[in-house]
Amino acid sequence: MKKSLLLSFCFLLLLSCAKKSAEDQFIDNLLSQMTLEEKIGQMNQLDPSWNAEEKEALIREGKVGSIFNVVGAKEVNRLQRMAVEETRLGIPLVAARDVIHGYHHIYPIPLGQGATWNPDLVERAAQLTAQEALSDGIRWAFSPMVDVAHDPRWGRVAEGYGEDPLLTSTMGAAVVKGYQAEGMAACVKHFAGYSASEGGRDYNTTWIPETQLRDIYLPPFKAAIEAGAMSVMCSFNALNGLPSSANPHLNIDILRNEWKSDALLVSDWGSGSDLVPHGLCADKKEAALRCINARMEMDMQGNIYTDYLAELVSEGKVKESQIDECVRSILRLKYRLGLFDNPYVPEENQTDISAAFAELGTKVAEESAVLLKNNGVLPLNIKHSTLNILITGPLAHQKKEQLGTWVFDGDTSLSVTPLMAFNSQHSTFNIIFEPGLTYSRDKSKTGIQKAVKAAKKADVVLFFCGEEAILSGEARCRTDLNLPGAQSEMMDALAATGKPVVMIVMAGRPLTIGKQVEQAAAVLYAFHGGTMAGPALYNLLTGMAVPSGRLPITFPKMVGQIPLYYNRHNTGRPSYDPPMLIDEIPIGCPQFSIGQSSYWLETPTEPLFPFGFGLSYTTFEYGETTIDTIVNDQQSSINRTSYLVQSSIKNTGNYDAYEVAQLYAHQLSGDLVRPIKELKGFQKIFLPAGESRLVSFTVTPEDLGYWHEKHDGLVSQVWFATDKAEFKFKIAPNSDISL
Ligand code: GLC
Repeated sequence: MKKSLLLSFCFLLLLSCAKKSAEDQFIDNLLSQMTLEEKIGQMNQLDPSWNAEEKEALIREGKVGSIFNVVGAKEVNRLQRMAVEETRLGIPLVAARDVIHGYHHIYPIPLGQGATWNPDLVERAAQLTAQEALSDGIRWAFSPMVDVAHDPRWGRVAEGYGEDPLLTSTMGAAVVKGYQAEGMAACVKHFAGYSASEGGRDYNTTWIPETQLRDIYLPPFKAAIEAGAMSVMCSFNALNGLPSSANPHLNIDILRNEWKSDALLVSDWGSGSDLVPHGLCADKKEAALRCINARMEMDMQGNIYTDYLAELVSEGKVKESQIDECVRSILRLKYRLGLFDNPYVPEENQTDISAAFAELGTKVAEESAVLLKNNGVLPLNIKHSTLNILITGPLAHQKKEQLGTWVFDGDTSLSVTPLMAFNSQHSTFNIIFEPGLTYSRDKSKTGIQKAVKAAKKADVVLFFCGEEAILSGEARCRTDLNLPGAQSEMMDALAATGKPVVMIVMAGRPLTIGKQVEQAAAVLYAFHGGTMAGPALYNLLTGMAVPSGRLPITFPKMVGQIPLYYNRHNTGRPSYDPPMLIDEIPIGCPQFSIGQSSYWLETPTEPLFPFGFGLSYTTFEYGETTIDTIVNDQQSSINRTSYLVQSSIKNTGNYDAYEVAQLYAHQLSGDLVRPIKELKGFQKIFLPAGESRLVSFTVTPEDLGYWHEKHDGLVSQVWFATDKAEFKFKIAPNSDISL
């Protein structure tokens, strides 16, 4: 009896495996009809916004699988008809675009969205963005960018969600879910380690030990893949000597074999052909070989696959099966987007999201702003008094600059600037507008004098300063993070009037504004807040909204401290005491008489502002952090202990407000040195004035694990594990704690 049951079970199992999904059947069937040339054509992604005639001819010949930088439903449909109606198999194109933080309606830059610590809000923003982009023919967005960044000199720090793997993972996954819930493919980038570019200089070399790569840089990609990201983009950088486009360890070992991802892997712009200037390949034909052997599946604007793959196959250097697995990924993305059934986009009804965006865009901009200082001047008392407010600074009324970097389709006519927002409110205050400087790099002093003169008539000065949009983003790296132009001189002059100056900073990165923070009565760091920056800042400055942003990245005092991040190692000689600074050193003192620990002679090791920091108009009181072990199998050879970590938080002020409770953990000893603290959870909670809330976090052994490494002669091995060790936990308002 048993034998027949076993046999029928095996038969059913075989049947289920043999029964392919409809998707696989479709893909296999289409693939079986394709010629080698048609397959290679699918692996080619082109930007037909230039050399259009030549590229349209390639589309008609079935030599293009995807187009990007084409906008407008009509134009996308026109090119789509060439692929669907003029090629032998009619395989549709997939149209892609850099939709990074909004489409026509722009949200704060991702670094600002990271400062919201509100993934639900970020997911909703991504959903609304997708609705707008889809109606313009965009089916594939080249975001989220989840490069964990420790170096604010790097221009693309603006595009990510800051320095922490958990915060970045949470935000990246939210964007993936938001886009794909609406039917637009996400593309998690840049895989991997791009943000570790030496010197904070874009595209530069990166050296990242395997354990650090896996503990810090890879988790946000894994989180995005687990959230269902339909595609991944290679990064430009050489990682430990191997550029990502030609890196089988990243693209096959990790992405395919470890993470079991079936997402499409696309190069970055020409990153395949860049292997020649990298010095990896002698020519583009070799570059094509190295990329296909590392399973880079689609070549963005590099033309190396269409130029060389067929020849490499005929020479026996590339198997057609390698090409088939790449084309499967491409057909799978198109199948999942429904392109085979609906290749065209309705041309009549552009989705109008303006009503929903007015509220959501304002809310995201409000929650992305971080209050760094307030001597009580904020919120402005606009209810019962007649205030004379000077609105000044190079970013007070700049529709384009407040959008920030990567806003190809941003509609600047929609921008509401701070000046517009204040002027549109009929309140008891009187607005004086005198920009002082006309753009962030403006060095002319004449305007400053006008602003100073106006300040003398004002009760309070609102100084909107920071960076123009062009000063951050791709290839926009800086070695000096002070306010550009004559803004520091302008702040000196405004402060000298004795009037309270509220500094509102719009920038794509942390700036070294220590002196200005001392001079200001209050500082609100708004990053580039997008289309609704103006209304959001009006609401925050007047108390109609209460600041709830928290820094997603450490703010250094000076560039010389970089890289400076919260989850650092303690070193064997931590600098506990404030070091004797350079001008205090006695002349001629003996070499070891002034102490030696890990510090600099010019500045203490503390940052200007720590990761997770942000003030409110209210105050919060944190109770003791309590820790209960949930499962504790002492006999086990591996750590099976989980923890329930709790703290009661009370709003002890007069404003109802959000607080971001942050859970930090510290492993006191281990197989490898561990960070002095690591963010292991966060909760953004709304607390009415006077109320308390118990905040709880469950920490599992997995949460406390990290990548180990050992070397046996020339062979090294890595593995993920959780040490049996002592852990400390603290629920706190920011990372400036000792654990
Ligand atoms: C750029 C960027 C990448 C972008 C791509 C397409 O060079 O590195 O993030 O998506 O090219 O514009």
